[in-house]
Amino acid sequence: MGLEVKDVTVRFGGHVALDNVSLEARKGEVTGLIGPNGAGKTTMFNVITGLQNPTRGTVTLDSRDISKLAPYKRARRGMARTFQRLELFGSLTVRENIHVAAAQFRRRHRTAERAGPTTDTLVKRLNLGAIADVRADSLPTGQGRMVELARALACRPSVLLLDEPASGQDESETAEFSRVLRDVAAEGVAVLLVEHDMDLVMSVCDNLHVLDFGKKLAQGTCAEIQADPLVRAAYLGEAEESDKTLGATL
Ligand SMILES: Nc1ncnc2c1ncn2[C@@H]1O[C@H](COP(=O)(O)OP(=O)(O)O)[C@@H](O)[C@H]1O
Ligand SMILES: [Mg+2]
Repeated sequence: MGLEVKDVTVRFGGHVALDNVSLEARKGEVTGLIGPNGAGKTTMFNVITGLQNPTRGTVTLDSRDISKLAPYKRARRGMARTFQRLELFGSLTVRENIHVAAAQFRRRHRTAERAGPTTDTLVKRLNLGAIADVRADSLPTGQGRMVELARALACRPSVLLLDEPASGQDESETAEFSRVLRDVAAEGVAVLLVEHDMDLVMSVCDNLHVLDFGKKLAQGTCAEIQADPLVRAAYLGEAEESDKTLGATL
């Protein structure tokens, strides 16, 4: 059970951003979605969360077809995401950003637990105590990514989508982030991670899907993907730009 994407195609005019791509993200696992810039990773997230209508294809959550649901209805069914470009409420503090999501969850699901304690727990869990009263728009990106993760977790997701969360993080932030991701997956959440930091990808992911120019290039365990000649070829061009891409890691 978890998330299943089947035969998704997205065309922007004449440009095919996704070409008949299928993938799944199972509960209890961290699934990586990797590929060079422009491969279609963010477009896939937009299709999964309902921000982008696919030209064709379906999205299934726990065996139910959610392809026609509006984004907020998918969120109600347990889908949460973070954004490649941070989308925090800039004028609110860190604590308020998380509280808004916790209060919204409580209203929707009429849970007994109050939003305050949920927020406090997340502040503690993600080590945000020192910056809890700081406005979100004054945070460095790395800390902002943690706050976005906390806000997503306040919605108690069953599927969590993360779009390049390590970009802007320093090494200790990435290490902390990866620890939280493993814990969240262990609690039964299906985590889908788009990420360029291959050290992070290879250390947290159970399975990987590789996209290139909108097409699914490969799928498998980290070891299988690292050994795949097609994947290595697709990444070699990027190796010069960043020393943390797959090409350089191999
Ligand atoms: N709204 C859009 N309109 C037209 N083209 C788009 C749009 N969104 C993305 N694209 C194009 O689709 C391709 C995939 O983009 P994207 O999903 O952002 O890739 P990635 O996240 O893997 O870097 C790129 O060529 C991009 O320019
Ligand atoms: Mg992207």
